[in-house]
Amino acid sequence: MNNGLEDVIAAETRLSDVDGEAGRLIIRGVSLDHLVTHATYEDTAALLLDGFFDRPISVSELKVQLGRARAEVFANVQAMDAMLEKLPPVDAMRALTARLADGEDFETALRLLAAPAVFLPAVLRLRKGETPIAPNPSLSQSADILAMLNGALPSKEQVAALDAYLVTISDHGLNASTFASRVIASTKAGLTSSVLAAVSALKGPLHGGAPGPVLDMLDDVGSEAHAETWLGEALDRGERLMGFGHRIYRVRDPRADALKDALKPLVATGQVDRDRIRLAEAVEQAALATLKERKPDRPLDVNVEFYTALLLEALGFPREAFTGVFAIGRTVGWIAHAREQALEGRLIRPRSVYVGPLPQAAA
Ligand code: COA
Repeated sequence: MNNGLEDVIAAETRLSDVDGEAGRLIIRGVSLDHLVTHATYEDTAALLLDGFFDRPISVSELKVQLGRARAEVFANVQAMDAMLEKLPPVDAMRALTARLADGEDFETALRLLAAPAVFLPAVLRLRKGETPIAPNPSLSQSADILAMLNGALPSKEQVAALDAYLVTISDHGLNASTFASRVIASTKAGLTSSVLAAVSALKGPLHGGAPGPVLDMLDDVGSEAHAETWLGEALDRGERLMGFGHRIYRVRDPRADALKDALKPLVATGQVDRDRIRLAEAVEQAALATLKERKPDRPLDVNVEFYTALLLEALGFPREAFTGVFAIGRTVGWIAHAREQALEGRLIRPRSVYVGPLPQAAA
């Protein structure tokens, strides 16, 4: 038995490859560092979905189709009830998604890509007592998300930063939520069912959990001068430093640098609190040095969550929404994997070893 299926190969995929030793992520033949600087969300979605449906996917058409799908799924927001508003944002999004029809076709995929992008901003506004803003189908997915969230057209730097985030997290090998999506797809239940299972896996704190605690840590550290002492005391208490360490990466997570770079235009144009970034960089340096000293046998470096936290905060997302934004970006990976599994895989049905009691022999 292999606890946690570590090192078990459970699928063949053309979608992405995570090389933990080299710190490299390839998405459909393109390295992340190239993709994130050259591709929009729509480019990446077309790249990942290409060949998995009964029609060719062009980026310009996808942009139009996604706009139309956002307008279509907004009807579900209007039908939202007060009970859903009280749920954590990712749970409310999941409940709204469960109302969408199931299917294996491209139209179902479009609705599933549009749904979290529309539902999350709407849920966040309702929680603040504000009216949800209807999508604008003529905008790109990232621009529309920010417009629906903040009630104003975003700057081009903000759109580029959200695009960079959504591209960066679009797919990442056979992580828990992607595996969940493939398990459901292997039963031929449909894409909506796959995405619902994947969101349910993602929300757990061991997976899509929380870049939120990174911000809690920065708030607590408070000042650059205090960083080293704070980090040392946290490790003395046996705590983990949020935003550091990874199950697969033994070097720096390449997504961390992609997101650090994506923040730079916001910093350069004064659209983010520079003191916050300076503090984060000081904490990063102090944490790397402290971890090296305290855990010399375990390479611990920055992971994706550290700069995710700073980037999403800079774009106006509250901490409790970060898992939902992750779901917006990862849905395309879940759908591509589900289609790959449904088209090329078999029913996933591993075995277990029975370690319970045996029936008593008759006296
Ligand atoms: N801070 C301090 N120590 C850490 C650490 C961190 N962030 N991450 C791992 N370690 C230490 C553990 O304490 C352990 O030390 P020990 O052998 O002296 O007991 C050792 O590294 C191995 O830990 P383990 O839990 O086996 O590593 P893992 O690969 O299973 O854990 C994470 C991966 C991501 C769960 C882990 O690094 C972590 O908890 N990070 C902080 C939370 C976080 O940023 N999550 C987002 C991940 S993308």
